[in-house]
Amino acid sequence: MPEKEKKQGTNISRRNFLKGVGTGTVAATVAPSVLIGSEKAADAQTGDAVASATIQLNINGETYQVEVEARTTLLTVLRDGIDTGGNNIDLTGAKLICDRGECGGCTVMVDGKSVYACMMLAMDAQGKQITTVEGLADGENLHPVQEAFIKHDALMCGFCTPGFVVASAALLGENANPTLEEIKIGLSGNTCRCGTYPFIFDAVKTASQKM
Ligand code: FES
Ligand code: FES
Repeated sequence: MPEKEKKQGTNISRRNFLKGVGTGTVAATVAPSVLIGSEKAADAQTGDAVASATIQLNINGETYQVEVEARTTLLTVLRDGIDTGGNNIDLTGAKLICDRGECGGCTVMVDGKSVYACMMLAMDAQGKQITTVEGLADGENLHPVQEAFIKHDALMCGFCTPGFVVASAALLGENANPTLEEIKIGLSGNTCRCGTYPFIFDAVKTASQKM
């Protein structure tokens, strides 16, 4: 670990954690014209032909070119994708938990709206602005929602936190001054098994006052 990070100890860990930690859309088919190239690949297990294509995704302001199968989800690309240059995308803030659109752990923003990345096909994310929890901070300056989560200690195990942070940022993007009831409804697609909800709701209220 770099010396600077070591010196900042627990504090920097939480900051980095909140930078690195992560409602719903199931995909439709993408028009072939937007694909850079497509071909048939063989399914590793069955040997059956599987349609694949090279696509471009805009993630946190950067363009990534990746080859995906038609069935590949956005979450898979973010966490495990390798771009055509051989680089791991490695945006693991969005968590793979239920993989069926129930928990919100994989929440990212797509064109400013909360989306379950496990329920969106990567091909359907082309041409859209994708923001993961890693893309919320501005350099060393945390997003007001991230700061408020720290201030209110709005996490325990933290596994749900990236999803809540992104969903909260999306909520405040649509409603700058939500009531408690609106916060509860806005975050109803996310689940916290540790029961930190009151602290999360307080954090969102605090962030709304700062934004
Ligand atoms: S992992 Fe996507 S909603 Fe649970
Ligand atoms: S803090 Fe543990 S699941 Fe939410």
